Amino acid sequence: MFGTSVLVVLGATLLAASSDDKTPSIEEVMHKLHQGKNAPIAKLKTALKSASPDWTAIQKLTKNYATLAAAMPKNDAPKGDQAAYHKLATAFASNAKALDAAAQEENQASAKAAFTKIGASCKTCHNAHRPED
Ligand code: HEC
Repeated sequence: MFGTSVLVVLGATLLAASSDDKTPSIEEVMHKLHQGKNAPIAKLKTALKSASPDWTAIQKLTKNYATLAAAMPKNDAPKGDQAAYHKLATAFASNAKALDAAAQEENQASAKAAFTKIGASCKTCHNAHRPED
């Protein structure tokens, strides 16, 4: 009896884990990171400008940013050349990783530099790969 319930719990845990691992879509990533005044990108923009940055808050934001950004190259673009998209998406994910690494080191200059690169990358990718609505 005990053995069975352990197996059931294990099975449920595995199922939960595998559904958590599902790669979020481009739309989900974009929405979660960039949509609205309280989006992580907006919060980071303000937080990184501070003369005394709140690193604990920033580190949470950059970790989440990097995790979600890592899903971008795992998706295919809804529009445009896939190889070109994957190049841009990989650069985006790597800039996000650099941003998080700088934040974890509390290096404001590097964090700002990575953040600027991310901000400069939106339009290029959108022009080529974001469907018009
Ligand atoms: C590597 C490519 C790429 C980069 C870099 C990128 N985006 Fe996007 N973004 C897309 C694509 C593709 C869509 C359209 C997704 C869809 O509709 O399926 C999109 C959609 C969006 C949306 C709409 C989300 C929604 O809810 O429909 C917003 C907002 C957005 N991007 C903001 C940004 C901002 C801000 C940046 C830069 C900080 C950025 N994006 C960088 C590819 C990119």
